[in-house]
Formats: sequence, structure tokens, C-alpha cells
Amino acid sequence: MSNKNVQVTLANRPTGWVQQSDFKIVETDIPKPGAGQVLVKNLWLSLDPYMRGRMNAGPSYAANVGIGDVMVAGTAGEVVESNNPAFKPGDAVVGYFGWQQYGVSRGAELQKVDAKAVPLSAYLGAVGMPGLTAWWGLLDIGAPKAGETVVVSAAAGAVGSIVGQIAKLKGCRTVGVAGGKAKCELVVNEFGFDACVDYKGGNLAKDLRAAAPKGIDIYFENVGGAVLEAVALQLNPFARIPLCGLISQYNEPRPKGLDNLVMLLINRVKLQGFIVSDYASRSSQAVAELAGWVREGKIKYRETIANGIEDAPRAFIGMLKGENIGKQLVKLF
Ligand SMILES: NC(=O)c1ccc[n+]([C@@H]2O[C@H](COP(=O)([O-])OP(=O)(O)OC[C@H]3O[C@@H](n4cnc5c(N)ncnc54)[C@H](OP(=O)(O)O)[C@@H]3O)[C@@H](O)[C@H]2O)c1
Repeated sequence: MSNKNVQVTLANRPTGWVQQSDFKIVETDIPKPGAGQVLVKNLWLSLDPYMRGRMNAGPSYAANVGIGDVMVAGTAGEVVESNNPAFKPGDAVVGYFGWQQYGVSRGAELQKVDAKAVPLSAYLGAVGMPGLTAWWGLLDIGAPKAGETVVVSAAAGAVGSIVGQIAKLKGCRTVGVAGGKAKCELVVNEFGFDACVDYKGGNLAKDLRAAAPKGIDIYFENVGGAVLEAVALQLNPFARIPLCGLISQYNEPRPKGLDNLVMLLINRVKLQGFIVSDYASRSSQAVAELAGWVREGKIKYRETIANGIEDAPRAFIGMLKGENIGKQLVKLF
């Protein structure tokens, strides 16, 4: 084993679109685990939209990344050395080591996982944070009832693809919104949505009306901007909006609000923002159900995989621009 640990650090705080030059690739020595610590070799790195917010200086729900610090991220890997009786070499673990190949931990924030039940990488996707986000946002805030129409934006992505499949399992009509014909075909043919609207196709409002002829009961919001504006005009009375993300605004120096907010008043719509970590203490129930659905083939997932830590900045920017299908990962070894 090489004794080097390659990391990606934050070099600049971007204004507007993030650039590759906002990151720096650095090499350090592999850390030595101290008393009670374990050394983990990270095999998979998760790239997620929230990381764009952590690159900013302003306040958010979590601390930002300092200039020169390793970028934050969820990771999945294996224990290679252990001075902690709770772990042994070879254990598969999910951690939060950031954009780097190795990390040491006292173990408290490490989660041992069964990589035989589902592949290790799925613990960063369908059975991990994005799957939990879909599960809690839809079921707890959206509260779907059979026969209702559920619209999901970023429907070909890590969270959206799972939301639509859970909604279908609950007996709903499911309509995805995604960028481009190819993604929309995948949303219907692979993820089993009833319909998908290409928001880049030029007829968003009309296509949405055709795909959801009885109006929209739940809008699982991942993007904001023009899609939210169009959906707001087609919401049914007492519709619910789990506000999960606003990716269309993350690189905008002046993020846009909702012009037709009055539609939420007229229709007595419930809109609730949430952060998946709010549900951390109750996650085992959701993980067990998601893992079961994946094993039984009731939920399908896709991964877009970049190769090597050095490719993480390019893959991250690509994901923000919609180049990914399903979960964006980096295979580190
Ligand atoms: N609240 C929480 O706890 C929580 C947890 C996880 C994720 N999230 C949020 O959930 C959303 C989806 O995250 P994810 O990890 O599943 O990412 P993802 O959907 O796998 O990837 C991001 C996708 O966003 C779409 N997109 C980018 N710019 C867009 C625009 N201007 N308009 C419409 N769509 C755009 C792209 O798909 P197209 O090609 O279709 O444009 C891209 O593939 C994000 O907003 C994220 O911040 C929230």
C-alpha cells in the first residue's frame, strides 16, 4: 500500500458557478490511528448538491468548509487498521471523511454496514442519505394516499428516482420532471414513473398539465425556479410540498423566490422544508425498508461513477449541471 493519502481541499469560495480551480488536489501521509481509533480506506465518495452550499461563506444549517480544508462528504470503505474493539480490519463502514482516500475515526460516527445484503456503494445512494431523504420527505411530509398525483423534480437523480418509486409503491400516479428526452425515457422505462416532463422541452406548463390531468397533490421539490413556478399553478387544494432542495438556485448569486406564492394561499398548500439529518434518530426503520425494497427489486437505482479522487471536482460540477443519472459517486480505488 502506498503511504500517501490524496485529498481535495477548497481553494476558493466561488461566486456563481463553481470552477475546477476552486479545488486543490493535495497529498499527505496516511494518518496513523491512535488509541481507540480506526483507519478507514475510503472506497467510495459521495458527491451531493449540498456541498455547493458548504463552499459559501454565509451561514447555513451546517458549518461551511474553510479555505484549505478537505471538502466534506459521505464515504463508504473498509477498516484497514483498528485500535478499537468495536471494529476489525475488513469491516465495511459508512463515514463522513470527506474528499480523501483515507480517514481516522474514534468510531462514534462510523456506521457498520452489511455489504453482502446490498452493494457497499448503495449505502451512499438508494439505501443511504439520498434514499432516506426520499423516504422521509415523501412519507412524513408528503403523506401520500393511493390515487393521488405526485410530481417529482430532478426525477432521474439520486433522491428523485427513489421518491417516484416509493410513491408508486404507495399507489400514486407518479410524474417526473427531468432535463432532456433521454432522462425522461429512463424515468419512465427504468424507474417506472407513469409520465415524465422534459423541463428543457419548451412546453413545461402544457406538458405538466397533460401528465397530471387531475392536478398535483404532492410536489417533491428538488429544484426551485421555473419548475416550481409551473407546478404552483397546477396544485390541488390541500396539496403538500416537501421542500427538499433548490438546485437551480445554488449557483445563482441572487437566488429567486416564488412569484406566484398566492397559489399556495388559495389552495391551502402545506410547504415544509426539511433536512434529512432531522430524522437521524429514526433512520434504521427507513434503511431496513429501503434495503428490503432494493433486494426484492421493487426499487431500482442507477449510479454515475467517476474514477479516482482527482476526478471528483469535474464530476461534482457535472452533477450540478445534470450530467449524472442516479447517484453521483467517485470510485477511489
Ligand atoms: N433536504 C435534504 O436533506 C436533502 C438531502 C439530499 C438532497 N437534497 C436536495 O435534493 C436535490 C437532489 O439531490 P440529489 O443528490 O438527488 O442530486 P441529483 O438529482 O442526483 O443531481 C442533481 C440534478 O439536479 C438537476 N438540475 C440541475 N440544475 C437544474 C435546474 N436548473 N433545473 C432543474 N433541475 C436541475 C439535474 O438533473 P436534470 O438533468 O434533470 O436537470 C441534476 O442531475 C438537491 O436539490 C439537493 O440539494 C436535500
